[in-house]
Amino acid sequence: MAGINIKSLTKHFGAVQVLNDIDLTIQRGEFVVFLGGSGCGKSTLLRMIAGLESITSGEIWIGGKRVDQLPPGERGVSMVFQSYALYPHMTVRDNMSFGLRNIKTPKAEIEKRIDAAAKILEMPHLLDRKPSELSGGQRQRVAIGRAIVREPEVFLFDEPLSNLDAGLRTRTRVELAQLHERLGATMVFVTHDQVEAMTLADRIVLLNNKKIEQVATPVEIYTRPATRYVAQFVGSPGMNFVNVAGVSEAGGFATATLPDGSIIKTSVPLNGMARSELTLGIRPEYLVATTAEKGDISGTVETVERLGDRSLVHVRLKDGSKIIGTDPGMTTIATGSPIAFAVNGSKLTIFDQNDVAHHSAIEGAEYQPH
Ligand SMILES: Nc1ncnc2c1ncn2[C@@H]1O[C@H](COP(=O)(O)OP(=O)(O)O)[C@@H](O)[C@H]1O
Ligand SMILES: [Mg+2]
Repeated sequence: MAGINIKSLTKHFGAVQVLNDIDLTIQRGEFVVFLGGSGCGKSTLLRMIAGLESITSGEIWIGGKRVDQLPPGERGVSMVFQSYALYPHMTVRDNMSFGLRNIKTPKAEIEKRIDAAAKILEMPHLLDRKPSELSGGQRQRVAIGRAIVREPEVFLFDEPLSNLDAGLRTRTRVELAQLHERLGATMVFVTHDQVEAMTLADRIVLLNNKKIEQVATPVEIYTRPATRYVAQFVGSPGMNFVNVAGVSEAGGFATATLPDGSIIKTSVPLNGMARSELTLGIRPEYLVATTAEKGDISGTVETVERLGDRSLVHVRLKDGSKIIGTDPGMTTIATGSPIAFAVNGSKLTIFDQNDVAHHSAIEGAEYQPH
């Protein structure tokens, strides 16, 4: 098991720069997820760690050893891809042992590792089957097994669940989390799916625009996103952004006036923040449908999405912008009707003109606006 150290890493494909000056330390045994939109360089970063892609400049260290000029086989990593690429004519056992046989691992040792891996993945009964006799999830388990038997210092996963259907995807995700618990191995996992990132990661590395936008635990990423990009990328639906016409101070905290004159009290400290071009960030769960008298923000209902456990209420504000709030699953809110939401002032974020987030100073405090 080893940690990973990435220093000033840059990648160009010809004239096109994909990653710029990436610094990142991954601890031994940590489960780190690279998250970001399609084309932001997640796979490229992972492939550079694996040695499948050259670096343009910078350094990569694994377990205290500089590896960026070493071939993949000498880096102590195993990679699992989205397409599992099993050999169709070989049994599961042979697929798993192929790499080890290539490097002349003794037969008894190979058997021992395959038995152990099969037990970990709960598939001893599948060892003599061919890939065509397996489900998609079982095939993906074989691909993971193939990585396990190599006993790598680091596991690298590139969207390994993307080809699975929704139910299987969730189950395999849970299996992967349990595998990490059992092996205690260092794992780096690439995905564009924020739910996978939130559920699997010890820490999420959010990539955007050639750079690391934020590195933090899932809870921090969700509750204290560093930037507007992170706030809208994580969460389903993402954070709402409400235009602010003006801001004043009450007890050191920002009070925002919206374009329609509504007043929203926050527990975000105002000190040092430029007071123009501000945006209020509100998660949908902190916009709760209420009566007109108790409302902090009001508008007109455009769409109601009933999800069963709750309903998402899409609302047009008077200034033309849109927000999404919530109501119970059995909502009676109708499209086209006026609506008011109560806002939880202790859960708000203010974004400045550079899209940098300013958060509530009172961690966990329940601010009572009424
Ligand atoms: N071999 C390559 N040659 C040229 N451009 C590439 C190559 N591989 C990836 N790219 C480009 O680099 C960017 C990042 O790609 P990639 O790392 O695959 O993104 P992600 O995995 O985040 O979707 C994309 O714009 C992609 O088109
Ligand atoms: Mg990719």
